[in-house]
Amino acid sequence: MQNNPNNAIGVFDSGVGGLTVVRALMERLPFENIIYFGDTARVPYGVKSVETIAHYTREIAEFLLQKEVKLLIIACNTMASVASQVVKDLSPVPVLDVIDAGALGAIAATSRKQVGVIGTPTTINSNAYARAIHQYEPDVRIFSQACPLFVPLVEEGWLDHQVTRLTAQEYLKPVLAQDIDTLVLGCTHYPLLKPLLQEVVGPGVKLVDSAEAMAEETAALLGDLNLANPQRGRPDYQFYVTDVPLRFQTIGERFLGRTLSNVHVVKW
Ligand code: DGL
Repeated sequence: MQNNPNNAIGVFDSGVGGLTVVRALMERLPFENIIYFGDTARVPYGVKSVETIAHYTREIAEFLLQKEVKLLIIACNTMASVASQVVKDLSPVPVLDVIDAGALGAIAATSRKQVGVIGTPTTINSNAYARAIHQYEPDVRIFSQACPLFVPLVEEGWLDHQVTRLTAQEYLKPVLAQDIDTLVLGCTHYPLLKPLLQEVVGPGVKLVDSAEAMAEETAALLGDLNLANPQRGRPDYQFYVTDVPLRFQTIGERFLGRTLSNVHVVKW
């Protein structure tokens, strides 16, 4: 099968969080069609086992491949950290994941090779960021911290709230004690906390937004493979979820920073 530049980019996540990646893609690649899948019936993934996450990930990738996407993007850090090989093994089209993009972003950002990584418990326990960063730069020192309360706080919309600030101070105390110069936001939800986190870590620590890093990597890959969409009209955006589309739409508009329509419910 010849991969067609007019086909959509398939982006997927455990729920609404991957829309931070979609937002970055819409800004960086305004002529690309996008099909998004959020597994809102089974979210959160960040506290589930590797076997369960791998099984769900396979189902979602197969769904998007049936829609004839030209590229698959694993927007969910948790899926990317434990199941990206599952997707690469079954996909006839290229696969990108946020961990690799975030790792490259961290290497570009760090000045003293002291890097903090925050994410869900599954992402942090997998050590995937450390492995990805060390593959490119073995002498970077990495300090990781799981921040499980950030996901519900962001979904609640408490982006500039005292409870979130205190939670962040508590979580980040151990990594800040290590004198990091860079902090990787290793979860789809964390880019929305950027202003608050920057305030907590102070101006001397650079924040790496894996959503932005992902959009840059996607643009480069589409260029290299001659897969950039040549059309210059309005792109088509479609969203598939597995439950409660209204909640997805309401919270999703905050993630996307624009109105969100074309939400379909998939029943398996
Ligand atoms: N999308 C997940 C991630 O980036 C966060 C939400 C979840 O736990 O499913 O790790």
